[in-house]
Amino acid sequence: MRVLVTGGAGYIGSHTVIQLIAAGQDVLIVDSFANAKPTVISRLEAITGKPLLVYAFDLRDTDKTEDLFAREQIDAVIHFAGHKAVGESVQKPLEYYENNLDSTLVLAGAMARHAVTKLVFSSSATVYGANAPVPMSEDLPTSATNPYGWTKVMIEQILRDVAVAQPEWRIALLRYFNPVGAHASGTIGEDPSDIPNNLVPYLSQVAVGRREKLQIFGDDYDTPDGTPLRDYIHVEDLAAGHIAALSKLATTESPVSTWNLGTGVGTSVLDVLHAFERAVGRALPYEIVGRRAGDIAASYADPHRAHAELGWTATRTIDDMCADSWRWQSQNPNGYPDA
Ligand code: UFG
Repeated sequence: MRVLVTGGAGYIGSHTVIQLIAAGQDVLIVDSFANAKPTVISRLEAITGKPLLVYAFDLRDTDKTEDLFAREQIDAVIHFAGHKAVGESVQKPLEYYENNLDSTLVLAGAMARHAVTKLVFSSSATVYGANAPVPMSEDLPTSATNPYGWTKVMIEQILRDVAVAQPEWRIALLRYFNPVGAHASGTIGEDPSDIPNNLVPYLSQVAVGRREKLQIFGDDYDTPDGTPLRDYIHVEDLAAGHIAALSKLATTESPVSTWNLGTGVGTSVLDVLHAFERAVGRALPYEIVGRRAGDIAASYADPHRAHAELGWTATRTIDDMCADSWRWQSQNPNGYPDA
């Protein structure tokens, strides 16, 4: 099968490209490189031993997207491309709506015109909104608390509507919990372009000496140690979930399927800190500060549907995740070099 991976140079996209190739799929990448370094591609080629076909453009460019589908045989699409920073989305709502919605509309339009009807979409647990009970199951109502989250809710709805109009589509909405970790080689990992917003990238930069200390945003939550619980999932497990979802689309009768990709385990911020300290082999500096606006006490998956329907389960522990994140960060203290 020939799979187009949008955002294939990004964090989750790059790990998924490796697993697609390992599974014998033919891969094509489209990435704007707005938030990814071209060096990722040469590293992917080194890992996979294959030259990669890469298109460097923004999906919102309708002519280029249309051209790509006219020129290339494509059997399925995994759509990772999109803006993803929660805080930035609050500052730049129009940019987020425009980027994430338009790129998806252009992509889906080209798919429809070229009869490409298999799509795996990067959704997020953020669609469960602010007051969802844990563990979170796929049947909960969706909502959001910030523009980034709303783009995920809206795109899910758009794709459901496409599948109503054209029931031959097979769409997987994958709701990720908190992806962390890196490829075992230490050559592919998460490379925030700015000061990291997320816990593990921030902690990695503290450990490598780029940041002074971790700020823990609140220890007065109603959780066992007072810090929020999240469902951290190794990016390799997450990538494997995409391979499983893609193969399920070949046989399922449902035009749209929704699957949580999480471990089902809630891990606190302090637990992550301590796991990271074990990986690094020393204590890391931190301070407790006030809560971060918009954070919820607990978010973790009910992962049973993906297990039952995809035969997929996350297997890596928080220690595995921190060890791999640390290998990546210590080998690449400043992230990917410029090309
Ligand atoms: N945290 C800190 N200090 C930091 C960064 C994070 O204490 O410097 C804490 C947060 O308060 C939170 C936990 O670490 O309790 C995890 O925070 P992240 O920012 O790593 O992750 P979130 O759960 O807030 O957000 C993630 C994704 C979003 C997605 C959201 C909901 O980054 O894309 O899950 O699914 F929308």
